[in-house]
Amino acid sequence: MATWRGLKVLITAGSTREPLDPVRFLTNASSGKMGYALAAEARRRGARTVLVTGPTALPAPKGVRLVPVITAREMLAASLKRMPGTAVVIGAAAVSDFRPVKTSRSKIKKVGQRGLMLRLVPNPDVLATLAKRRKNGRPVFAGFALETKNLLTAAREKMNRKGLDLIVANGPESLDADFTRATILTREGEMVPYRGPKVGLAGKILDALETFIDRTR
Ligand code: C5P
Repeated sequence: MATWRGLKVLITAGSTREPLDPVRFLTNASSGKMGYALAAEARRRGARTVLVTGPTALPAPKGVRLVPVITAREMLAASLKRMPGTAVVIGAAAVSDFRPVKTSRSKIKKVGQRGLMLRLVPNPDVLATLAKRRKNGRPVFAGFALETKNLLTAAREKMNRKGLDLIVANGPESLDADFTRATILTREGEMVPYRGPKVGLAGKILDALETFIDRTR
């Protein structure tokens, strides 16, 4: 059995915001609840927990180092900076896949406009970028896959493509909810279905990660 005491755990949470102008942004419906529940549970087990979080309405979990960010690029920079010495990385953030190619310095006006074309460019993948830096299976990596169809197949493909040890597959009903229905998949073919509060899922995810942590010791 792995012990979490003293291990450094890095968790990303919440959504990111990609500004269009000083008052508007692109984002998604993620509440941050899953990432915060994971951080609280990792801390409860004695881990040194760092939570890199986009804007949420949630209070900071006690004893957790909170690193607030706004955009995907900030989340990547903050996570890379805190990666040294990390034993486990969990990507629970719903990172905006795209950002406006440019941010207007003044508020975009509607007067005289018949429409507005938004030009978007892809954001970096925070988790995949961090995972490329792993050495000898370290740190251990976990992520999430939210899909509206072919959930398990798409989640497995995502786990392999991003180089993760574990992925949690869930549907859109999990967004901004306290309860969830999810399946934990590991790269060794384990499959753990779960239905219940996100706090309970956090515990199951950490349990499933223990096998991989043990191997890196
Ligand atoms: O590719 P997709 O967005 O479905 O992947 C989801 C997983 O990848 C989540 O764990 C999420 O935190 C992470 N991710 C990320 N940076 C992105 C997109 C996704 O870290 N730009």
